[in-house]
Amino acid sequence: MYDNWEELEESIKGCNKCKLCTNRSNIVFGDGNKKADIMFIGEGPGADEDKQGIPFVGKAGQLMNKAFEGIGIKREEVYIANIVKCRPPSNRVPEEDEAISCLNYLRNQVILVKPKIIVLLGSTALKNILGKEYGITSMRGKWIERKGILYMPTWHPAALLRDENKKLEFWKDLKQVKIKMNIG
Ligand code: URA
Repeated sequence: MYDNWEELEESIKGCNKCKLCTNRSNIVFGDGNKKADIMFIGEGPGADEDKQGIPFVGKAGQLMNKAFEGIGIKREEVYIANIVKCRPPSNRVPEEDEAISCLNYLRNQVILVKPKIIVLLGSTALKNILGKEYGITSMRGKWIERKGILYMPTWHPAALLRDENKKLEFWKDLKQVKIKMNIG
């Protein structure tokens, strides 16, 4: 573990801990305020993110940005990262060994950011961070506290593109986060 961003970012350059390194264009490390109170964790980069090296810049990210705007969350005030930092082929779910290889980078990011709240975007984030026994359908919208951090599991923004009904729930979950920040 590193106690500063420079060394952590240096340590990930040229990472070849798992097979996802073979097809990547860019490592998608993270984006936003490194001292944020709120951190968002997604699954893994898609094609647009791989091209640009920035998380959540594709269709799902644009939808998430719209929700942020509507609720009054500024994207540049939060910190955004993913379970895996290299694009899985055809955007498949990261495999167990890939997530395990990458998780220490994310743990180090969480330690450096020191967020009060972590929003878990979708099943992959939920299961890898809080445990495989959790399911996103039953857990979304419910606060979970672990070691002084409040976790809010919600839908992955890509799920909203496939199912309109999830948009309102996603919105409600982010609203809870916004309210908690304002009073906390
Ligand atoms: N989906 C994710 O989980 N993360 C991204 O960065 C983009 C899409």
